[in-house]
Amino acid sequence: MQEYLKHPVFKLLSEIAEEKGIETYVIGGFVRDILLHRPSKDIDIVVHGNGIALAEAAAKRLGNLTVSVFKNFGTAMFRYKGMEIEFVGARRESYRADSRKPIVEEGSIEDDQRRRDFTINALAISLNRENYGSLIDPFGGLQHLEEGLIKTPLEPGITFSDDPLRMMRAIRFASQLHFKIEDRTFQAIAQNKERLRIVSKERIIDEFNKIMLSPIPSKGIYLLDEAGLLEQFFPELSALKGIDTVNGIGHKDNFHHTLTVLDTLSLHTDNLWLRWAALLHDIAKPVTKKFVQGQGWTFYGHNYIGERMVGKIFNRLKLPQNEKMKYVQKLVNLHMRPIVLSEDIVTDSAVRRLLFDAGDDIDDLMTLAEADITSKNEEKVKRFLQNFRIVRQKLKEVEEKDSVRNFQPPISGEEIIATFNLPPCRTIGDIKNAIKEAILDGVISNNYEEAREYMFRIAPQFLEKKPEQ
Ligand code: CTP
Repeated sequence: MQEYLKHPVFKLLSEIAEEKGIETYVIGGFVRDILLHRPSKDIDIVVHGNGIALAEAAAKRLGNLTVSVFKNFGTAMFRYKGMEIEFVGARRESYRADSRKPIVEEGSIEDDQRRRDFTINALAISLNRENYGSLIDPFGGLQHLEEGLIKTPLEPGITFSDDPLRMMRAIRFASQLHFKIEDRTFQAIAQNKERLRIVSKERIIDEFNKIMLSPIPSKGIYLLDEAGLLEQFFPELSALKGIDTVNGIGHKDNFHHTLTVLDTLSLHTDNLWLRWAALLHDIAKPVTKKFVQGQGWTFYGHNYIGERMVGKIFNRLKLPQNEKMKYVQKLVNLHMRPIVLSEDIVTDSAVRRLLFDAGDDIDDLMTLAEADITSKNEEKVKRFLQNFRIVRQKLKEVEEKDSVRNFQPPISGEEIIATFNLPPCRTIGDIKNAIKEAILDGVISNNYEEAREYMFRIAPQFLEKKPEQ
């Protein structure tokens, strides 16, 4: 494995380890990722002995680098050549007869590997002189990497009770790496699902976002559902499951539909928040669902209610409460507009209004709306996609002509006040709004001259009304 130890820090650590007589290994995600030929991030070093002393000696020799020391945890960290290098002493857990709480004490490298989450994350490479570069693999991690298998080193119930977040991690790795979870390991997740409640929302959502960013996100989400974890932290998503039937008329399974949309969209974008918009676009369907005689199943207002639900979900799951959330809300609200538009004759003014409402997010909205076409009727899909091409073309033309994407009123409130010598009143807003509507309807073009001329034309009808203070 020596060919994998390219980073210059490894040779240096090996020399210092030899001088100081400290057993030293590189372990965990770094080893897994180099074996999978994935870009490696942080380097974790585990030592049998004093990890802090090794970190300090190495940092000194590398040119007095700053070391962050966490005495309570016995860990230390410094940055070197683009890598975060973390040092920790090997640990083991032992149980005393009078307590179920383990005592963590110094242990061997194998003790440390045993306490890790999965065999593929428990691989270590020796940095010691006598076997520099050898793979230390007591739990078959290399074979599992080759087979594409997620398996715990210990009896899975024990590994998961050490840290229940590992249940999410198992599914995250399965989704990210396209691996299978070993049967016993998966059964243990299903058995321990309720223990997820003791894990913080931040840690859960961190793993969930990694699932969202994996190549086929539905893989992880179906596994979360199957294991029973999804309903623990995301009941709104679980509620999309199932089909109701009245008078022999059923609606589509919105869980399955949503995940198909998410996967299709993910072929075109790595934007996490656009993927979230796909995940949540129909989130309000269960709460708005109604069977109407003569019409079948309806979901009136599911886009508006969905927009509100996004706020609640983001809040509960500790997702950002900022412009990212607003972006998801906006896309959920608007997600049907391009489809509705493409069903009609595509008029310039409808396109202009869509452009005005979506602003700079128009391309993302179109990507979402296109992914939302999941009908099995090929003719229908062909027709929609053809109409979408027309909508996109019209969007381009209208934007070139009228640039309403980032609409700024061509006539300001101050100008209206000055021109008509008005006190502050509602009339100013009414005139401004009438100008905006005329531009969106295509009555006038989006430029100052036409807008000013239009203002003079329409002003009398507003000024006749007594301005309200
Ligand atoms: N680990 C663990 N149990 C956890 C978290 C981490 O046993 N709940 C161990 C694993 O050996 C893991 C290592 O700590 O490989 C580093 O964890 P982390 O940096 O969180 O994840 P990575 O495995 O490196 O994966 P990624 O970088 O993709 O998050």
